[in-house]
Amino acid sequence: MQNDPLDLQGIDYVEFYVANARQSAHFYRTALGLKPVAYAGLETGSRDRASFVLSRRNVRFVLTAPLLPDPQHPVAAFVAQHGDGVKDIALRVANAEAAYVEAVRRGATGVQEPTVIQDGGGRVVKASIATYGNVLHSFIQRDGYEGPFMPGFQAIANPPPVPDTGLAAIDHIVGNVELGAMNEWVEFYRDVLGFKQLIHFDDADISTEYSALMSKVMQNGSGRIKFPINEPAEGRKKSQIEEYLEYNGTPGVQHIALATGNILASVDALASHGMAFLRVPESYYAELESRVGKIDEQVEDLARRGVLVDRDEEGYLLQIFSQPVQDRPTLFYEIIQRKGSRGFGKGNFKALFEAIEREQDKRGNL
Ligand code: FE2
Repeated sequence: MQNDPLDLQGIDYVEFYVANARQSAHFYRTALGLKPVAYAGLETGSRDRASFVLSRRNVRFVLTAPLLPDPQHPVAAFVAQHGDGVKDIALRVANAEAAYVEAVRRGATGVQEPTVIQDGGGRVVKASIATYGNVLHSFIQRDGYEGPFMPGFQAIANPPPVPDTGLAAIDHIVGNVELGAMNEWVEFYRDVLGFKQLIHFDDADISTEYSALMSKVMQNGSGRIKFPINEPAEGRKKSQIEEYLEYNGTPGVQHIALATGNILASVDALASHGMAFLRVPESYYAELESRVGKIDEQVEDLARRGVLVDRDEEGYLLQIFSQPVQDRPTLFYEIIQRKGSRGFGKGNFKALFEAIEREQDKRGNL
């Protein structure tokens, strides 16, 4: 494909390295409402790591933990450095070998050569390249594979009940990189993966009294994969990106935005399961209608839940941001409902970042 040299079909799954996959799976089931679908571990012949796969509609997460008392094991070493976090944003392709060879020819660092994995359900071809920090992009070629996830995994029979929070797809995944490194990664996604730059936000758009950042949004040829890249900008105090880098130790994934068709119902469900969201001041809602005009929702319904709204030429979007979902102030989630807008909520950055700064201040990190 001319405008998509690696023929990327979408995000196949996101794999997290965690300290305890069994307990993380409990959180993703009971809080986010993802269904346990597959497992690999000692019982399936995986001797060094345990993985739980959870999915709902077009969202699929893999949670992997180390099994051995070996601090050098790659999963254990990742968790020791970063805490729980995203290791692999795996991309579905028609031909994993062709995608890998082309990516490496274009300058990618190869991490895993194309490997055929097989079991009774058929075969999958997997290859991996490095991106920012300790994060990978694997290329996944499924060839009509019929098992529950990948060869080596067994289906989870009779999973416990799972609430439906309405989450439907991964809308975008944001990376935080070091000061001065944003353009290098923008060039990586452009030159190696064939992405185009969609939008650019600079510190004039997204600075508050204390902290600032710059961001560029990269999108693949089909528009199905969107990866914003943030770097810190100079501010009076420590920016949220610097706080992330300090606790993650390297660049990494800052947030995953999950799309819903009904954000009010999704937020009610998630909050009732214990998900904690950022709050903006009441004054945000007093000014809302004059800023975004007529919307389908009642402002009081948005205000009660803390849902934010932004509008551009094409329509509007509703969004809300969670608190970090692990002890370190690193990964968090965004819940987003699009009503025409293909943007990222630029009009909300100031209110949102001031809310993040209040949380940073509570952590002693501002
Ligand atoms: Fe976002």
